[in-house]
Parts: sequence; structure tokens; C-alpha cells
Amino acid sequence: MQNGLRFATLAVHAGEAPCPATGALDTPIYQSTTFVSANADEMAAVYGEQKFGYMYTRYGNPTIRALEEKLAALEGGEAAVATASGMAAISSAILGFVKAGDHVVASRSLYGAAYHFLADKLPRMGASTTFVDSTHPDEFESAIRPNTRLLYFETPSNPVLGITDIAAVAALGRAGGIPTMIDNTFASPVLQQPLALGVTVSVHSATKYLCGHGDAMGGAIIGPRDYIRAVSRDVLRDFGGVISPFNAWLILRGIHTLHVRMPAQCASAQKIAEFLGHHPRVERVNYPGLPKHPGHEIACRQMRHFGAMISFEVKGGYEAGKRVMDGVKIFARAASLGDTRSLIVHSASTSHQAVPREERLKVGITDGLVRLSIGLEAVEDLIQDLDQALAL
Ligand SMILES: Cc1ncc(COP(=O)(O)O)c(C=O)c1O
Repeated sequence: MQNGLRFATLAVHAGEAPCPATGALDTPIYQSTTFVSANADEMAAVYGEQKFGYMYTRYGNPTIRALEEKLAALEGGEAAVATASGMAAISSAILGFVKAGDHVVASRSLYGAAYHFLADKLPRMGASTTFVDSTHPDEFESAIRPNTRLLYFETPSNPVLGITDIAAVAALGRAGGIPTMIDNTFASPVLQQPLALGVTVSVHSATKYLCGHGDAMGGAIIGPRDYIRAVSRDVLRDFGGVISPFNAWLILRGIHTLHVRMPAQCASAQKIAEFLGHHPRVERVNYPGLPKHPGHEIACRQMRHFGAMISFEVKGGYEAGKRVMDGVKIFARAASLGDTRSLIVHSASTSHQAVPREERLKVGITDGLVRLSIGLEAVEDLIQDLDQALAL
């Protein structure tokens, strides 16, 4: 692809080209586990990476390759590797930097399984994590030790929509020679370009906005070429969390409309957040597009739109939050996010039920917190739906 093309053109074209053999315009799904070689020498050259080629889908596949090239182009990275899920991306990307004896400083406000990986799985492997409030980057700085090998964060964060100053954390990492890693799932590369702000590696749950239609699990790691090669070879091949060619194709197809879907979803989210902000039954709205959000100014600097995720505290606590989730008629009561369909969860009774109350309160997951993923329905219908559920 030519350099300097705009995001929309890259979303449609990067990584893909008509098939030279058949003229097929769309990228074929190479639904094959294995690829033949002409002879032993050729296979040896592919194994030894003296020659580019495919031999086994866990090592590489042309459909997956197309997705990886598109992801690298959109995120502005040197290279990318696609994975079976967001968690496969996060765990593999971290293991690409961290070994026994190493230390990570991470944001406390993270997607739950990422938090568990850092808090529970890394210690099993002999590494440790210190959690900090990443909305205050100086907390990262004071937690750094001589053996710190990674600074890890998520912005906007799940589910409280905390905003971390990406450039500030990246600068801290660079000053100390420590790589930085961001989970860019909530923003997607349409809204936020962390690598251009100095972050070393960006990870995604491609299951969300990149796919966009709620029909394929996937993940992505984007960063420096040598690091991506090392993660592919030394982590993914052995742990095995590779994406299937069919899911890679679904995500490729989803990305073709990412730049159209995302701004539309964000525009609806802004209107819904404003509606909730004025609703008498709502205590607090977490949405970075609202001027009173504590991260609003930073979000204005580092995001193109403010995202399509909102969380809000319903007056009346736990039961009131559940009542709103039970009362909606258009929103689907469902986990995940980033779909064309709008989704709703009451965090305390569902996604965070296993987290002790004091722990979840520490990260802002209050009793009445309801999380919304805004889809592509008419915003007036979504507002009406929330209004009637809040009135119950
Ligand atoms: C911010 C964030 N990162 C990572 C993940 C994990 O992604 P996956 O479910 O694709 O493994 C999720 C899942 O909800 C998420 O919300």
C-alpha cells in the first residue's frame, strides 16, 4: 500500500489485494491447517525462515496475514500479530516482555481478566505486578523498580471510563527505558493512535469494535517488528492462541466499516450520556465526552471522538441498577461490547459479582453502576428505552 493514505482508505484496502490466481476481489478464507511444499529443501527454507511461505496455520496463514497487515496499517505500527481473543493478545504480549523475576506496573482499572492475569498468573510464573491509579501518571513513576519491565494500562478503562494521559505514561516509559503497553479496545484506532503518542505496543480485543458485529472472537498485538516476531515465535506458537482463518476474515470484513460505524456510535453515546446526565434518577455518568468528566481535557487531546461506552450510577444502588437492566426493551442484556446492537450490564450483579464489594468500590464499580455499549440503532429509540426503564 502507498504511504500517506487516509484511515478510511486503509480500513478498506490495507493488507488486501485481489487474488492473482483467480481475480477474487475479496480476500479468500484459507480454511486450511497445512500448506504443501514442492520438496524437502523448500519446506526446510520455510521452516528456517530463509524463504517466506506458509506451512501450518499456527505458524501463519494468508487470511490471518491480511488481517495483521491491515491492523498494523490502521494502528500505525511496524507489524501486528492476530490472536484467538483479546486475552490471548494481552497475555502473549505481556509474556513477550516479562519473565520470572521481572516486575510490571499496571493500572488498577482494567478489564477483569487482564487484571487477573497480572495479579494471579504472573506471580505463578515468578513475576509480580504493582497496581496504581493510572489517571495519576506520577503513581506509575513512584512504583517503578529496578526490575520493572513493563508499564501496562487501558484508556478509556472498563467499565468506569477512566482516562489515562497516554503521552505522559509513554514519556515515563521512555525516560526509564521501560516498554509501555496499552489496551486500545475501547477506543479502537479510529479514535486513538497510541503508538503515535509514544506507546511501545498496542493490544486489542478484536472481538469488540474491530469485528463490530458480535460474531467472532479475536485479538491483536501491534508494535515494533522485532518484538512482534519474537511474540509470534516464542509465545504464540508455543501457547497456541492463534486466530482461526474464518474469524480473521470476519474481523477483516468488520474493519471495512470501522471508520463509519465508530463515529456514528460515538455521536449516539454523546447524546445518551447528556440525557443521563440530566436524569433525576441518575447519580453520576462516566463518559469522557462530558465536560465534567475528570479526564475530559486529556480525552480532548488524545481521542478523536469520546467512544461509545458509557457507565452510570443509578440512584438507589444495587437493586435500582438491576431494575434498569431488567427493564430495557431494546438494549440486549449481554456482556461484551462494540456490536451494532446496544448492550447493557449491571456490573455489581453480573460481570463483577465475584469481586469483593470493597475491591470493586476501590475502582469505582459502585452498587448501582450500569454499563452501556451503544450500537447503531436510532438514538431516540435508545433514549426512550432507558427513560422507561429508569421510570420503573
Ligand atoms: C477492554 C477489554 N480488553 C480485553 C478484553 C478481552 O477480550 P476477549 O474477550 O476478546 O478475550 C475485553 C473483553 O471484554 C475488554 O473489554
